[in-house]
Amino acid sequence: SRGLLTFGTLPEEVSMVRDMARNFAETELYPVAGHIDQAHEYPAKQVAQLADLGLLGMMVPERFGGAQMSSLAYAVALEEISRGCASTGVIMSANNSLYCAPVDKFGTDAQKAEFLVPYAKGERIGCFGLSEPGNGSDAGAATTTAVEDGPDHYRLNGTKAWITNAHEAKCAVIFATTDKAVKHKGISAFIVPMDAAGFSLGAKEDKLGIRGSSTANLILEDVRIPRSHLLGKLGEGFKIAMTTLDGGRIGIAAQSLGIAQAALDVATKYSTERKAFGAQISTMYAIQLKLSKMACAVESARLLTWRAAMMKDAGEDFIKEAAMAKLCASEAATMCAHQAIQTLGGMGYVTDMPAERFYRDARITEIYEGTSEVQHLVIAGKLLKEAAK
Ligand code: CAA
Ligand code: FAD
Repeated sequence: SRGLLTFGTLPEEVSMVRDMARNFAETELYPVAGHIDQAHEYPAKQVAQLADLGLLGMMVPERFGGAQMSSLAYAVALEEISRGCASTGVIMSANNSLYCAPVDKFGTDAQKAEFLVPYAKGERIGCFGLSEPGNGSDAGAATTTAVEDGPDHYRLNGTKAWITNAHEAKCAVIFATTDKAVKHKGISAFIVPMDAAGFSLGAKEDKLGIRGSSTANLILEDVRIPRSHLLGKLGEGFKIAMTTLDGGRIGIAAQSLGIAQAALDVATKYSTERKAFGAQISTMYAIQLKLSKMACAVESARLLTWRAAMMKDAGEDFIKEAAMAKLCASEAATMCAHQAIQTLGGMGYVTDMPAERFYRDARITEIYEGTSEVQHLVIAGKLLKEAAK
């Protein structure tokens, strides 16, 4: 991977994507993010605009409808979008990292023609069904079943829980076991159109944050799908899920960075405007300390995120680095949002200012795509394996 010294300057094409995403976020997202949150409203118009900008299938090759950009460009763009609106950020992230990426990486050309092209173009949105009511962190314990039904079909039964984009998605990558006896080696991935007979949705979850994105159960009752919808090889599903999440964690790190940066921006601006005891609060060391700590957390998490993205682009093993980026960026987001509220005092606690939304939006980043505890397991596991070599 490229050395740390190159991090100061982004490649020109990535800078251009950042400027475009930043401009869009500032003009089209930031002004409406408070409304989207308060109304729990899916930002349909803004998602369509993301599609027009090529931000919904960023890493997919052009021949399959994508923008064929690097992971670094994706991370940089997703940070900017999330800085404008974290709900829009997770919608973008789930479609790019969790739906398009596995179909692109593991799908056949025929599967890609039908199930990737419209999603990479953003004409349709996809979702990713791994977690279940009984198991989230222990993803290998999936109980949703796939049973052969005649020579050419599978029949799927089970419930997937907490699925982002559930209510807007047209297609899901679903993980189901064909043989529970062999644990994670029995899990396979399937492409499941959501209008299939027997497929239904649970109610939208009422959430603390990212309230513009839908989260709901996917319920599969005797959903019959052709064998040609198997993604990758039989029994390869857990590997597909884990590989997908390795890339996805770069996305959630970027989303976290956007929230963290937005919190720092609000705190910095307010500190220069607010006076207490006859002076701007920005002149007080206690406030400067907060701003400094926030800035260090954001910058260090950004370097980790860019490093993980650059390693992925270079085809290196980036599992540990993606987990580090996700862990540190999500912790930066929750810390910065917390300290932004503190810097704003009472104004931090009310909806007139966005700090309280950043605080609520930030909280999920330490939970989804692997909790912080799971990231520590991944990092320490890799570290110990390397040490034993
Ligand atoms: N990348 C690639 N392969 C991996 C891997 C990784 N990160 N982690 C494990 N594997 C492979 C192992 O090499 C092993 O392969 P073999 O069978 O060939 O030896 C296999 O997977 C099993 O590995 P483990 O025994 O380590 O697996 P485990 O059952 O102990 O689980 C875990 C490990 C890290 C805890 C994993 O279950 C995990 O990541 N859990 C968290 C699940 C998660 O992140 N869910 C997110 C859902 S999506 C979401 O939340 C959406 C959203 O944000 C919008
Ligand atoms: P549990 O696994 O029950 O964990 C509970 C607690 O125990 C946590 O603190 C956890 O860190 C800790 N813990 C568990 N195991 C260990 C261990 N071995 N060592 C140390 N601590 C441990 N899933 C999808 O598949 N697709 C989606 O699109 C999706 N989107 C989501 C959107 C939202 C808003 C939410 C809330 C969740 C979403 N999820 C999605 C699910 C998410 O990935 C899980 O909630 C997450 O992985 C944690 O699983 P869990 O909730 O079952 O918690």
